[in-house]
Amino acid sequence: MQAIKLREDIYWVGVVDWNLRNFHGYTTNRGATYNSYLIMDEKITLIDGVKAPFVEEQLERIKSIIDPAKIDYIVSNHVEMDHSGSLPMLKAACPNAVILTSAPNGLKGLTAHYGDLGYQAVKTGESISIGKRSLQFVGTPMLHWPDNMVTYCPEEKILFSNDAFGQHYASSERVADDAHLPVILAEAKKYYANIIMCYGKQAQGAVEIVSGLELEAIYPSHGVLWSEKHIPTILDAYRTWSNNEPEGGAIVVYDSMWHSTEKMAQAIVEGFTQKGISVKLFDLKENHNSDIMPDLLTSKYIAVGSPTLNNNMLPTVAAFCCYMKGLSPKNRKAFAFGSYGWGGQSIKQVEAELEACGFEICLEAQRIQYIPSKEQLLDLTEKVKAL
Ligand code: FEO
Repeated sequence: MQAIKLREDIYWVGVVDWNLRNFHGYTTNRGATYNSYLIMDEKITLIDGVKAPFVEEQLERIKSIIDPAKIDYIVSNHVEMDHSGSLPMLKAACPNAVILTSAPNGLKGLTAHYGDLGYQAVKTGESISIGKRSLQFVGTPMLHWPDNMVTYCPEEKILFSNDAFGQHYASSERVADDAHLPVILAEAKKYYANIIMCYGKQAQGAVEIVSGLELEAIYPSHGVLWSEKHIPTILDAYRTWSNNEPEGGAIVVYDSMWHSTEKMAQAIVEGFTQKGISVKLFDLKENHNSDIMPDLLTSKYIAVGSPTLNNNMLPTVAAFCCYMKGLSPKNRKAFAFGSYGWGGQSIKQVEAELEACGFEICLEAQRIQYIPSKEQLLDLTEKVKAL
């Protein structure tokens, strides 16, 4: 395993996790990467670790350039274990390295995870010289943990952004290119929707910080790197997503027992379609919650349906509502729907979940007993058209 040269004296020494399909509950259908960067200057510096099981691969790439014992600094931009997991083994291989982490939360977090590995806490605005180059540290707390920071190298005009601007995307290419850009942006959107959506304000702050830097490249810790050509593309995307005010679009999300709630869902889709609103339908038996979130991110309307089972909504719908609520989407219009046999409690329960998300209820909860008639479905379509 060789290091990959990115520019003079700067190497990628990360790993590609080709077969990862679940990242703590988020489906990673295109795998993942844990990027790490080696800067060969007077003070040899490693930016970020990788997930623990991949440490040997990371070390092998480092060894293709330098004896790890010669590393002076390891910058730990983020405590989460997909980046810090290899630190104890790295420290053993790089006994002279000081681990730079954010003050105070990086220091607290790394110490709680690994004990004392020899840390130096750095504050926002602090800069260290590593020879011909310097590294400036900027805290980005709650993007998406309290400890997050990014590292800027002004001499190279590179931002090492860690999770921000990343994607779960395994590839042999290291830099975003035109040919793969639509897929890369789709993965960046999925990453944002599932990891960062609830921290929109912090993401806006990060975009502001980044916009004020002279930049030739952004090197995130997941996925491909952003060259100068594509920096405006990813920054514009983050501006739009973090604004959390979708202009249009709708998603209809449901589960069904005997297809009656499904028929209602299809009638709702028909209503949005006739209204000229782009809409997507998701059956929760077939779609993972994390695969729905990118469309939630850019949809103004959310309709959620469940029949009633044992006085409750279906567990799939409850799980969807729980996952969505945690991500705090804002400024959406929503309504609940469902078929029922006798009690019909589920529909109001779903509506309560939508209210708890802070959504504006734009249509009263739609309930149909047993099997919807053609007339009832037409009526439902008309109600959605009239929204
Ligand atoms: Fe990629 Fe928050 O860790």
